Amino acid sequence: MAAVVLVSRSVLPKISSVSCAAALQQQHRKLHAAVVPRGKGGRSSSSGIAATVFGATGFLGRYVVNRLGRMGSQIVVPHRCDQYDIMYLRPMGDLGQIIFMEWDARNKDSIKQALQHSNVVVNLVGREWETSNYGFEDVFVSIPQQIARAAREAGVSKLIHMSHLNADIRSPSKYLRNKAVGEAAVRDEFPDAVILKPSEMFGREDRFFNHFANLRWFGSAVPLIAMGKKTEKQPVHVVDVAKAIINAIKDPEANGKTYALVGPNRYLLHDLVEYIYAVAHRPFVPYPLPRPLYHLVAKFFAMNPFEPWTTPDKVDRFHTTDLKFPGLPGLEDLGITASSVEQRAIEILRRHRRFRYLEAELDETKPAKTVSF
Ligand SMILES: NC(=O)c1ccc[n+]([C@@H]2O[C@H](COP(=O)([O-])OP(=O)(O)OC[C@H]3O[C@@H](n4cnc5c(N)ncnc54)[C@H](OP(=O)(O)O)[C@@H]3O)[C@@H](O)[C@H]2O)c1
Repeated sequence: MAAVVLVSRSVLPKISSVSCAAALQQQHRKLHAAVVPRGKGGRSSSSGIAATVFGATGFLGRYVVNRLGRMGSQIVVPHRCDQYDIMYLRPMGDLGQIIFMEWDARNKDSIKQALQHSNVVVNLVGREWETSNYGFEDVFVSIPQQIARAAREAGVSKLIHMSHLNADIRSPSKYLRNKAVGEAAVRDEFPDAVILKPSEMFGREDRFFNHFANLRWFGSAVPLIAMGKKTEKQPVHVVDVAKAIINAIKDPEANGKTYALVGPNRYLLHDLVEYIYAVAHRPFVPYPLPRPLYHLVAKFFAMNPFEPWTTPDKVDRFHTTDLKFPGLPGLEDLGITASSVEQRAIEILRRHRRFRYLEAELDETKPAKTVSF
């Protein structure tokens, strides 16, 4: 990345070497061309944001990069995959504004390098299952902690950390327990971090609606613990979460706050999955599966060394009732009107329809029943 460092060499001998380094860094941040706002606010202008988006190659990442790119931001995309696999991100920003950079989450120097020219850092790193290389502690605690520490040391002005609505140290899900520990670790390292807690996100590439819709591959019957009648869900649309990230970056008042991001409606899991099948024009045949038996089946799938279709932890997470945080600000406090499942489900579920229903109107489907408890 071409960094613009405009420090007059004649002044350097006058300051000590330590303050010289600090001054250099300070000057460097102030004068970086990418952080000088200019233009009318479109893709080819400069928003004044130079952001490093860790986890940009994931589901939420593409929406965040797109929103940052179209307002004219410079975006560093740390990645560990082949660069050609993420070329779809390239047209989301103006020429030269999306910078791919290899990183290794275990290498502190690579984290530092990835964020050294940025004034905003977004951490979207996450994984739904543990691997032999990275457990949930690594992904949700150590990596966010390292990123937060490096961001503080580099003088980054805004850190956005993505947690989960149900992050709770007492949760049956290890994923959610570690998310809770990660939140506290990030707050300790970077007290001004903005922590966002979305519920399960739905969107075209999600692993929530698509997961339930794909269950039909296993005999067109859907296993749900207690028929999904004891679990309440309030899913949020991925685009709303991406907008929340952008608005939190722009809003100086957001610093140090934690936001709970949920959709406008709350459903029983049973009714939500029933609606998914109704939109997909597929028969919905739910059956109750006791948790231990579901875990046993999920353990079998979890042995998949690639992307396991489900895991015991995912079973627990999906059957966890969404927590309510009346005291925390939400999407509306960031100026966003949340989209409902009924407005967006068709975008995700049309591809699960049979050919003859591809064009069927959404109005034919009765909206899902909502709950208010
Ligand atoms: N999806 C949801 O419904 C949901 C709900 C609430 C909260 N969240 C949280 O929101 C964040 C983004 O979610 P998402 O659904 O976009 O996640 P995702 O699709 O699984 O993407 C995760 C990203 O993290 C990267 N990553 C994972 N492990 C890594 C490692 N060990 N080293 C380096 N990079 C690593 C992945 O890189 P590779 O592409 O190289 O694997 C990918 O870019 C996560 O923190 C997630 O826990 C998600």
